[in-house]
Amino acid sequence: MNRIISPSMLSADFGHLERDTRMIDASAAQWIHIDVMDGVFVPNISFGFPVLKAIRAASPKFMDVHLMIVEPERYVKRFVEAGADLVTVHAEAVKDLRAALEMIRACGAKSGVSIKPATPVSEVSEVLDAADLVLIMSVEPGFGGQSFIPGSTEKVRELRRLIDQKGTGTLIEIDGGVSAANAGELFAAGCDALVAGSAVFKAEDPQAEILKMLNAK
Ligand code: DX5
Ligand code: ZN
Repeated sequence: MNRIISPSMLSADFGHLERDTRMIDASAAQWIHIDVMDGVFVPNISFGFPVLKAIRAASPKFMDVHLMIVEPERYVKRFVEAGADLVTVHAEAVKDLRAALEMIRACGAKSGVSIKPATPVSEVSEVLDAADLVLIMSVEPGFGGQSFIPGSTEKVRELRRLIDQKGTGTLIEIDGGVSAANAGELFAAGCDALVAGSAVFKAEDPQAEILKMLNAK
């Protein structure tokens, strides 16, 4: 099992994006999480390609791109060209999930599928062989700074059992309301990667906070 921290740039200071990206680059976090929102799939708009490219220019770290957009298939190639190492689409946003995941791999990136809090793990069980990662949303997607929905930990355990049974090696990531207070429990439940926005960027010492999450019991 891995212990990966993926700080969400949604909570960064966009007036100092390069500074904040370099700070994460120098931290123990292995990945950088990028939240793309279109105002249609979720009731919020975040940012797109130019911001992604600016982050890529400031750090060579593994770029974990979470697409909260409708018809994500239309943009996969451009996100990979802009520097995405992993592209995650929402199961609720695509008609043919397997085809979307295969398309991501064909573009040269790792493939990810995310499920919203109300979507059961069974929605992804038949495509695990095509998914390098499953992202479990532990808040309603759209905004940083919300509280962790408790039932999400049980979904992680269920997904862990399923992945181990099928032997696909798919990674499990969780996103929303994650902090050093629940990081230990989430890794123990079977998460490989934790996304954290406010917990990292609102901390007095973000790099120390990342270490706390990595070492949480
Ligand atoms: C929410 C985003 C998250 C968000 C997490 O839709 O997908 O990645 O930035 O923020 P926190 O860690 O503050 O809950
Ligand atoms: Zn996210």
